[in-house]
Amino acid sequence: MMTRLLFLASTASFWIAVAWLWVGGGSDRPAPALSAAPGHTLAEVAKHNRPEDCWMAIRGQVYDFTTYLPQHPTPPQVILPSCGTDATRAYETKNVGRAHSPYADTLLAKYRLGPLKP
Ligand code: HEM
Repeated sequence: MMTRLLFLASTASFWIAVAWLWVGGGSDRPAPALSAAPGHTLAEVAKHNRPEDCWMAIRGQVYDFTTYLPQHPTPPQVILPSCGTDATRAYETKNVGRAHSPYADTLLAKYRLGPLKP
């Protein structure tokens, strides 16, 4: 009788320990803070809204186009209003309903800073 009780008690405490570990008990690592996630927020992008410091978010990625601006084949006023914004629509339509070429797409990688985070 005593042995059976002991067996039941130890089995129960074993499974309680397993369940505790399963739910993360005993882990003193805090959940990673959102701000530690890689990338930049749109609020951060918005601060870079000048010709001499021009970031844009396009399709979930953040870019620094400061050095590209003088190379864009239009007068600067076409592209400047997109600095500091989510420019996905502007990029995809050139603001005139026409997509950029596949060649333009290949230029993006060079200016990529990282993902746009919520
Ligand atoms: C986001 C705001 C932007 C706007 C509103 C915009 C608008 C335009 C316009 C109006 C043209 C000329 C008209 C035409 O060729 O159809 C053009 C051409 C071009 N743009 Fe942009 N652009 C933007 C961003 C960019 C970026 C970020 C790049 C590359 C890093 C880029 C690369 C090019 C290239 C290579 C062309 C020559 C035509 C082509 O390859 O599609 N543009 N853009």
